[in-house]
Amino acid sequence: MTSAKLKLGVLISGRGSNLQALIDACAAPDFPAEIALVLSNKADAYGLERAAAAGIPTTVVSHRDFPGDKPAFEAAMDARLREAGVELVCLAGFMRILSEWFVESWRDRLINIHPSLLPSFKGLDTHARALATGVRFHGCTVHFVRPAMDDGPIVAQAAVPVLPGDDADALAGRVLESEHRLYPHAVRLIAEGRARVDGDLVRIEGGGLVLDSVVNPPF
Ligand code: GRF
Repeated sequence: MTSAKLKLGVLISGRGSNLQALIDACAAPDFPAEIALVLSNKADAYGLERAAAAGIPTTVVSHRDFPGDKPAFEAAMDARLREAGVELVCLAGFMRILSEWFVESWRDRLINIHPSLLPSFKGLDTHARALATGVRFHGCTVHFVRPAMDDGPIVAQAAVPVLPGDDADALAGRVLESEHRLYPHAVRLIAEGRARVDGDLVRIEGGGLVLDSVVNPPF
């Protein structure tokens, strides 16, 4: 007897490499989640092609169809997600800031991947800012979403070293590889009921808070 898989809704705006990592993870028979819907706010997002190639239902809800009316835009997204039976919403490079209404209506069922070790480097251009700050370690975070930007209980983090000679692109590439391992790991923790929100924290049953440890610092 197989138990039901957690139904994911993945929200994208572009390239969709994290979506691809989730698609690949979900292809494994023992992975405890499946993608029920990929939703993009951009019709030309490459991630839509990745989803279609994998036979996953896609939908486009363009913010441009709701000029000046964010509540209507979000209500349309919300309706598509609920129609598809989505149980956990995964933001994967979704480039619109969500309102408190949307975030609260999916409270503890909405996660994001961010390319930094939060709470450092919220917002954009995280890799260039990390380099400019001189941090020796950088990485990525999967967290439950709260109304404040890039805020919320941390499910999992992966750290990577900043190496001599790194520019923002090189560092971004190293972080992105770690993102592709971290996001499926975090989804698995949630789908298996092993990641429980407790106030501002996520308690991990039987487990480490960090997935990828640091890769051999160069000294
Ligand atoms: C990733 O770096 C993710 O952390 C950030 O946006 C980027 C999306 O990349 N939120 P992709 O579309 O998944 O390739």
